[in-house]
Amino acid sequence: EVQRASTYAPVNIAVIKYWGKRDTKLNLPTNSSLSVTLSQDDLRTHTTATCSSSYKSDTLTLNGSDQDIAGARTQACLRELRALRKEIEAKDSHVPKLSEMALKIVSENNFPTAAGLASSAAGFAALVRAIANLYQLPATPTVLSRIARQGSGSACRSLFGGYVGWNQGELDDGSDSVAYEVAPASHWPGMRALILVASAEKKDVSSTAGMQQTVASSALFQHRAENVVPKRMEAMEAAIKDRNFEAFAALTTKDSNNFHATCLDTDPPIFYMNDTSRAAVRMCETINQVAGRQICAYTFDAGPNAVVYYLAEDEGRVAGAFKSMLGDLTGWTEGVKATDVSAGMEHVAEMLKKGISRVISTSVGDGPRKTEEH
Ligand code: DP6
Repeated sequence: EVQRASTYAPVNIAVIKYWGKRDTKLNLPTNSSLSVTLSQDDLRTHTTATCSSSYKSDTLTLNGSDQDIAGARTQACLRELRALRKEIEAKDSHVPKLSEMALKIVSENNFPTAAGLASSAAGFAALVRAIANLYQLPATPTVLSRIARQGSGSACRSLFGGYVGWNQGELDDGSDSVAYEVAPASHWPGMRALILVASAEKKDVSSTAGMQQTVASSALFQHRAENVVPKRMEAMEAAIKDRNFEAFAALTTKDSNNFHATCLDTDPPIFYMNDTSRAAVRMCETINQVAGRQICAYTFDAGPNAVVYYLAEDEGRVAGAFKSMLGDLTGWTEGVKATDVSAGMEHVAEMLKKGISRVISTSVGDGPRKTEEH
């Protein structure tokens, strides 16, 4: 007999970045962070977990290819989930002993893996949520975020929808280093995100390795963690609660630039942004100048892709401006009209056209959702 459960989990893109660990085994961060959960209609990991007494050992496939399940991060997640299942089994002898059976986990991303599109976040969130469903755990998203964090730090934020914080916590065992909902997606549903895919290749320096190098060598990083981020977390939560886009945008762009400055301050320096990324920055600056206020915000993770946040009411002026330069790539929201802001921007236009292979238009979305079992 085979037991089965399936889920989708969303991608999240941080607006206050997680960068640096105080405990590399538990993925305990040196600063709190905050992200926007993106719509699972556009970007998602789909994971099915099954278990059966006929399976020989735990297995994991991603997009059809076998993954190493023996890694410490995946093992930590499986161990924690089995321990919670064992508590249920210990209370009632009629409950099937699923915790003793091998697991078969099958995952599919509907976007390029490791393109700096937060695939590990959606991946671990989906893995943890699928197994929790399979085991019928009464665990809250908060408890599951503590488990998913051990798979990949940013994954803890993908257990919630909308606007999500991750409290760095203080305890050595990490029990207070969990994600929390700042506001649901419905609080500010006009939020839009345009992802400019500048590279669908695997990234140069993984975030895990990059942040370790930064912690070891950057003095700017220490300043960021101690003095910069705590104030920004407060200001960002207030901006979201007040639906104050200008404040949200200013904090988002500043924090991305501060994070990339600590990367440059790392020894040897780490460059995640490239010429295409910088052209996207120039475009956003121009769009804001033309508008006379901040109507778009850019942010970059551990790779060159730009994520541009804006409000639906400014779709023409933001997405339209990029469309006028990038032309007929697929992925634009239907009906977006090209708005020309290209005067004096020939070089920027050329860089964008050359470097961007694909756009993804999406919005803020909900947390993991159960899917039809298959
Ligand atoms: C730049 O969560 O991928 O995207 O905990 O080592 O798996 P590990 O790192 P990961 O780092 C994400 C870094 C970031 C910023 C962010 O998402 O907050």
